[in-house]
Amino acid sequence: MKVGGSFMALYKKNFEKKEFPKLERGAKHYEMIAAEALENSIEHLNHAYGQKLCGAEGAVEYRDGGVYTYDNNGKRYLDCLGGYGIFNVGHRHPKVIEAVKNQLDQVCLHSQDLLNPWAAYLAKQLAAIAPGDLKYSFFCNSGTEAVEGAIKLARLYTGKTEIISTKNSYHGVSMGALSATGRDVFRKPFEPLLNGFVHVPFGDIDAIENAITKNTAAVILEPIQGEGGINLPPDGYLRKVRQLTQKKGVLLILDEVQTGMGRTGRMFACEHESVVPDILCLAKALGGGVMPIGAFMSTSKIWRVLEPNPSIHNSTFGGNPLACTAASACIEVLLEEHLPARAAMMGNLFTRKLKELQDLFPQYVADVRGRGLLIGLEFQTKEVREQVQVELFHRGVLVAATMNANRTVRIEPPLIITEAQVLLMIETLSGILQELKDAKVADITKKVKKRDRKKDKEKDRKRA
Ligand SMILES: Cc1ncc(COP(=O)(O)O)c(C=O)c1O
Repeated sequence: MKVGGSFMALYKKNFEKKEFPKLERGAKHYEMIAAEALENSIEHLNHAYGQKLCGAEGAVEYRDGGVYTYDNNGKRYLDCLGGYGIFNVGHRHPKVIEAVKNQLDQVCLHSQDLLNPWAAYLAKQLAAIAPGDLKYSFFCNSGTEAVEGAIKLARLYTGKTEIISTKNSYHGVSMGALSATGRDVFRKPFEPLLNGFVHVPFGDIDAIENAITKNTAAVILEPIQGEGGINLPPDGYLRKVRQLTQKKGVLLILDEVQTGMGRTGRMFACEHESVVPDILCLAKALGGGVMPIGAFMSTSKIWRVLEPNPSIHNSTFGGNPLACTAASACIEVLLEEHLPARAAMMGNLFTRKLKELQDLFPQYVADVRGRGLLIGLEFQTKEVREQVQVELFHRGVLVAATMNANRTVRIEPPLIITEAQVLLMIETLSGILQELKDAKVADITKKVKKRDRKKDKEKDRKRA
């Protein structure tokens, strides 16, 4: 077989072999790298990158560490977004990095045939920190897969098919998880989804009771709706759902993909109400901000249905040694550095300071809610939210809207955030709200939008 240029030519007509430009701090070719990143994103990822803030700003990620991420110009961003909740132990925590580097020199992906000591050890660690009698784990690669597996396990164990979920919930976008997700914008274009899913209002115990039938396998809930807008249910809701499901012989699946791993001030959010689910879903921060990994856990009693054919549910990459060592190191860091408790403490400070801003600027800030370092900052309008978000970006603070509530900004920084960093964010936000009041921000935003429109037109002209 012929290799080299002509081989390439045969299969990839326009393949042009080119070195990926080396990202050096302050490099002269920064503008070129940013322009190329934008062009490739528009041409080969999604045309919508042209409209995104990062596209308009040409901000290219260069390096990260701790609570910060940096662009190639040396601009530092205080990360109050936390990669949508993956950086609980911070960016590139040295202990996680070291564990993964060592693992790279030993075994990266597993043979699938021999015992995998890293997956087994991680499962043991999870059993030790998980609430109640959750003892067995299945490892996958993302949150949606964790939910997918949980739904299948619930159906397999109960022999029933119906799942009760909540309106405005977010459980992922693969077909099973999407069937549980409670927002039409994600669901409608892909219908018909799985049969047997019903969605009831979040926080309403009677609605769950009324929805339970003889064929209900499980109720699936986020303890706090993350993408729904950081929505907290009434106190005692989770406990009542647990009591109800137990009484009716229905399984309770808790999706702690976003709330887990210390985020809300306890290792798992269900601990706030001393609730033990039948199935627990994890992902995001589990990988220590270094590797992607998801998991669903359950009790030995429920897991027995997977014993006759252990590969009835499987994943080639799930439980790979690199991801498992990252997760094991992440758990150690969370415990050693007492990060769940730190999330509670810093979350209280953050929330208190944000509420002070709400009192000062009620014309802009509609609500502040959350638990630990999962905080929702709701603005009066989507436009104000956008303006504030853009200005925070300009001033070196990252935040983002929640997926199902576009007036709400989520604040979910690494749990290692310091008091000084919280106060810096508050000061920056306060400055923006004051300028907004003085109508200065409106001018700035108008200018930015005008510039973006000009850029877009130029790009469209080039494309044409
Ligand atoms: C509660 C919850 N479940 C599931 C998911 C899906 O996770 P992933 O994007 O890793 O598939 C998310 C993602 O935001 C989530 O917040």
